[in-house]
Amino acid sequence: MAANWKMYKTAQETTAFFDRFNSLVESDPKPEIVVFPPALCIPAAVQATRGTRTEIGGQNLYWCKEGAFTGEVSGHMLRAAGANWVLVGHSERRQYFAETDADVLKKTHAALEAGLRPIVCVGERVEERKANKTEQVLVRQFAAGLAGLTEEEFAKTAVAYEPVWAIGTGLTATPQVASEAHELIRGEAAKRFGREAAKQLCILYGGSVKPDNIEGLMKETEIDGALVGGASLDPESFAKIVRAA
Ligand code: PGA
Repeated sequence: MAANWKMYKTAQETTAFFDRFNSLVESDPKPEIVVFPPALCIPAAVQATRGTRTEIGGQNLYWCKEGAFTGEVSGHMLRAAGANWVLVGHSERRQYFAETDADVLKKTHAALEAGLRPIVCVGERVEERKANKTEQVLVRQFAAGLAGLTEEEFAKTAVAYEPVWAIGTGLTATPQVASEAHELIRGEAAKRFGREAAKQLCILYGGSVKPDNIEGLMKETEIDGALVGGASLDPESFAKIVRAA
């Protein structure tokens, strides 16, 4: 269960979140929890989750280790700050920051090189779904975002299926629609990395996941977890989602 906080919360608010959240989920050993706060809040989040099972990740990274790249943060820096994971190719990065499939691939490789586990995000826009291009888009984004990974690297990588029309809109994909997309992605993974590796691949669903729709989604065997935006900002709400899973 992953929480994508996007550009919300200060370091103080991050600490306050975990003060509450840690006590709400402590007793459950499963599922794995990863929180993606804004980069500036990573140290506070790492500190607040020390000794708990919650892991911390970055929302984005640049593919060079260091250099004259004003405003960027490298995987190496995220790792040094205590992050274990990083989101790559979120649709908001593609849409507002002009990230291309080629950028996503460089970021996936840079993440792995830095010792971070990438979650590669894929998903079709509403016009693509209406034009029956969902399959084409997912196949392209999957192939482009994970090309050239070794088996070992692939095993460390997760995928999030986030239909763009469902993000922040309150429109969740039905469990069946999400499940079909996951099956397609797993099929692509099997073609490239073999059936066994594809079976092990963790595919998260994202897009308006809430405490009241998580159960239906998690009943689908194809759906391994969720990437939660808005509903992860409140500790009670995200803890409910974690428990329902
Ligand atoms: P949402 O965002 O849950 O607010 O729709 C999900 C995401 O963008 O990862």
